[in-house]
Amino acid sequence: MTAAPGLREVFARFRPFLRAERGGLLVAAALLVLAALADTAAIWMFMLITDEALAAGSLDAFWTPGLSWLGIAAFGAASSFGGTYLATRAAERFLVRLRAHVFAHVQRLSPDFFARRRTGDLVARLSGDVEAVERLVASGMVETGTALFSVVLYAGAALYLRWDLALLSFALAPAFWLVARSFSAGMRTASREERAGNGEIATVVAEGLSHVELVQAGNQQHNQDAKLRAASTRWFRAKLAEARLSALYPPLVTMVETVCILLVIGVGVWEISAERITLGGLMAFAAYIGYLYPPLQDLGRITMAVTAARAGSERLIELLDARPAVADAPIGTAGLPPSRSGRAVEFDRVAFRYPQATEPALRDFRLQVRPGEFVLITGPSGAGKSTLARLLLRFYDPEAGRVLLDGVDLTRLPLHAVRDQIGLVPQEADVLHATVADNIAFARPEATRAEVVAAAREADADEFVRALPEGYDTMLGERGALLSGGQRRRIAIARAVLRRTPVLVLDEPTNGLDAASKSKVVAPLRALARTRTTILISHDPELAELADRVVVLGGEPTSRLDAVAAWPVRHDVPAGRVLSGDLSAPVPDDAPTVRLRRPWPAGLTDPLHARGRP
Ligand SMILES: Nc1ncnc2c1ncn2[C@@H]1O[C@H](COP(=O)(O)OP(=O)(O)OP(=O)(O)O)[C@@H](O)[C@H]1O
Ligand SMILES: [Mg+2]
Repeated sequence: MTAAPGLREVFARFRPFLRAERGGLLVAAALLVLAALADTAAIWMFMLITDEALAAGSLDAFWTPGLSWLGIAAFGAASSFGGTYLATRAAERFLVRLRAHVFAHVQRLSPDFFARRRTGDLVARLSGDVEAVERLVASGMVETGTALFSVVLYAGAALYLRWDLALLSFALAPAFWLVARSFSAGMRTASREERAGNGEIATVVAEGLSHVELVQAGNQQHNQDAKLRAASTRWFRAKLAEARLSALYPPLVTMVETVCILLVIGVGVWEISAERITLGGLMAFAAYIGYLYPPLQDLGRITMAVTAARAGSERLIELLDARPAVADAPIGTAGLPPSRSGRAVEFDRVAFRYPQATEPALRDFRLQVRPGEFVLITGPSGAGKSTLARLLLRFYDPEAGRVLLDGVDLTRLPLHAVRDQIGLVPQEADVLHATVADNIAFARPEATRAEVVAAAREADADEFVRALPEGYDTMLGERGALLSGGQRRRIAIARAVLRRTPVLVLDEPTNGLDAASKSKVVAPLRALARTRTTILISHDPELAELADRVVVLGGEPTSRLDAVAAWPVRHDVPAGRVLSGDLSAPVPDDAPTVRLRRPWPAGLTDPLHARGRP
């Protein structure tokens, strides 16, 4: 772990979020200053009452200072209330704004970032660590300012009353700093450990809960328990260390304080006997010194809190420093012409390597897909098929080469525009904890119920959805409990359909489905492909029947040829084209040809003719 960031860096980093609260903070600080002034004046009234009314036994002399005291106390109470309230409001607004910023930032990071992180730890950063920064930057600042001001005020009053006595008391003040300082290093280590332990607990719990089937099926509950125990032990030790330090600090300070007060009173008694101070004066003096200690103690405590908060800001800054793998093009950089029936997609000599990988996932890959064409991409596992989908959605940018939509380089289009053009049915069908209707409408929340139902019909999902206990209003569990694998995919397809994007990318939509469920997924694809460019990624030879063209990615040349040849490819295709996926490259005359091994299945609509192509 790197060293915690310096205070200056932390403030520079988070000050922008405080800017809007400046007015509120200033008013709060002014009110708290007024409250401290009122306290000082109240003690002064107490001195007047002691010397003029109490010592002389005069009721007449009581009224003026007594009533003034009451007025001052009421004013002080109101200022203190207003100041505390405003300061808290500003601090919490800072917190809300900072959390929103961090969340928005994290949401824009590439999938790769999340592949390397644990969700639980990210959750902890967005909750506890954001709060730690708030304590440091917002409340910490107000508290420090108020405490410093109070110290100056009470010290000034004490000096004014009896400078020599005051100087004696001040000489003892460094003792407080020494105590605070000696605690600070231990506190820093303990807090860092505590924050990390907290993140670990959140991770273990989140993982255990989200993989509950895997855990139960593998009889791994005890292992998960052990993981939680280990994380808890780490957290517990750190928390205890923190508690030891926090619990030891106040009594130590009290001891130092007692010594100081006794010293002051001892010297004061001597000063009274020499008539250098009145009894009321000494009592007021003792009160000022007494009032001086809490803010001094506060300052010490704040120093410790600041140390603790630096551990949190360190984790937050690390998060904020993470950069998305792609940079958004400025809005309006380039535009796309209106689309009729899909857009052209082109991969132009694309090379790509994942940020953490040593081997490239794609090398010099070329593919041109015409508007409205239906291309099936196949190839061995790990060949880079899903990577193509990720590049098309611009989760990443290629290392070399370009990805183009209707001839426009994706990097010249706003990210938002790119993703508006492409509907993705990912390899893992995501289902949210929401109703069926909300799940389908996820990417178009403003869609009407009629549109949702129409999309579900097109995805052949309407029938099974209506059979659910509450139809479209049935709540689905987070991982789509209640639904079979095929049903989840059809929900995912309906989601993509509802967006009516000119390009549709489906990553293994039939993976792991039986024949019956598969045909339910395949049937809607045929219709969908009619009105848009469709890129279907699949290992499934049966799906090749749907496609205009089959592109094989990666693998050994001979086995690739065999694999393709074993498929019922619709027409004779020069294998060079099929294998390289490159339509623009000249095909050598002696290139082997993939021929249809099986006759076209009877009763199955010929997709090419259904699509009105020659
Ligand atoms: N986030 C990542 N970081 C590093 N390497 C990755 C990442 N995702 C994928 N890879 C690697 O990139 C290569 C291509 O992966 P990709 O997911 O595109 O394969 P695929 O063809 O879709 O395979 P499958 O048929 O199993 O889905 C693989 O070698 C894989 O290990
Ligand atoms: Mg894949």
